[in-house]
Amino acid sequence: MARLLITGGAGFIGSHTALVLLEAGHELVVLDNYANSSPEALRRVLELAGPEAEGRLQVIEGDIRRSTDLDRAFAAGASPGAGVEAVIHFAGLKAVGESVAEPLRYWDVNVNGSQRLLAAMRAHGCRTVVFSSSATLYGYPEAVPIPESAPIRPINPYGHTKAAVEKMLSDVAASEAGWRIACLRYFNPVGAHPSGRIGEDPNGIPNNLFPFISQVAVGRREQVQVFGGDWPTSDGSGVRDYIHVMDLAEGHLAALNTLLAGGDQLLQLNLGSGHGHSVLEVIEAFGRACGRSIPHQITQRRSGDAAITVADPSEAKRQLGWQTRRNLHDICQDGWRWQHSNPGGYAT
Ligand code: NAD
Ligand code: UD1
Repeated sequence: MARLLITGGAGFIGSHTALVLLEAGHELVVLDNYANSSPEALRRVLELAGPEAEGRLQVIEGDIRRSTDLDRAFAAGASPGAGVEAVIHFAGLKAVGESVAEPLRYWDVNVNGSQRLLAAMRAHGCRTVVFSSSATLYGYPEAVPIPESAPIRPINPYGHTKAAVEKMLSDVAASEAGWRIACLRYFNPVGAHPSGRIGEDPNGIPNNLFPFISQVAVGRREQVQVFGGDWPTSDGSGVRDYIHVMDLAEGHLAALNTLLAGGDQLLQLNLGSGHGHSVLEVIEAFGRACGRSIPHQITQRRSGDAAITVADPSEAKRQLGWQTRRNLHDICQDGWRWQHSNPGGYAT
């Protein structure tokens, strides 16, 4: 059992990962300012983890950019005396369009926030960290499936901040001994815990395909706009590598175990399934899961989109012994269970 600090642990991926880590027996301190989440998510995580997790989750409301909040988080915990052994760093802003409109806010939270966190880690003697990176680093890929060796060429401010933090982490790893770092480059995280108790709860109109389809299915929105029907793909719609959030959560546990078991490391790994699905295939699969067809209309391409992005996940399998176990059917079933039983997200 390790004592872990989870930044952004109340968010979509953080809450599912917190549950998997509690179930694996770890002791967690979550630091979140609820900029894009609700305390209800962690209440439900505790409920799902059951009585065995009692006393093993402490939540601190605070900001990764504030050193006093970071100090409180490193000092907190159920067993005083034992320090935080590793950090899982989810906290950040993630909306591409917003990052174009407000780049300074994105550089502040994502880059300055990560710098403060790393400085606090050093001050508290913790040098093990798993970082939420993104396939957005690859920009328009030259070839698919995309290996980690593909050029890093982000095409928007959000992507630039992720590339900057990866660079900061590699500089830190080279500066002194003792750092164990994993940058996990997620492809398209979707779905929900199979209980339907926790899931993705975006503010306002969803930017991403999967939550948009879910909200159409539950009657909150009229129809899905399919951004482009003339891409060079089998049915003309865009192709992505959708990864079930529970597979992703398990990927974090595997990365943590690999870091804790070894010496100095700097891992940069894709987390994806290696399989692509088109927008029309996802709409069709979600329709089957919810028992009604999803109204949709093909419209113009969205600027900044690539035709196909699919991971080459073979390095994660080799280095972490991890691979996805769930398919598009599971994603839609679990996503629908969450949306159907919580039509307004955590507010309902
Ligand atoms: P999310 O918005 O649901 O979770 C992020 C969490 O961080 C939220 O709980 C938010 O309140 C918190 N947070 C934001 N700013 C903070 C601050 N200054 N101090 C403390 N907490 C703060 O997003 P998510 O989908 O769970 O993503 C988690 C991480 O994974 C992010 O870093 C994101 O960039 C990255 N990522 C996400 C995706 C995706 O599609 N969801 C894909 C690739 C990478
Ligand atoms: C987007 C971001 C990416 C980020 C990821 C997770 C862009 C260009 N990329 O990835 O940087 O890491 O989200 O937050 O914004 N689509 C529709 N209709 C919709 C929404 C999407 O047809 O209403 C299509 C898109 O054109 C794409 C696919 O669905 O082909 C997936 O889109 P989305 O869920 O937004 O993810 P990405 O664009 O892959």
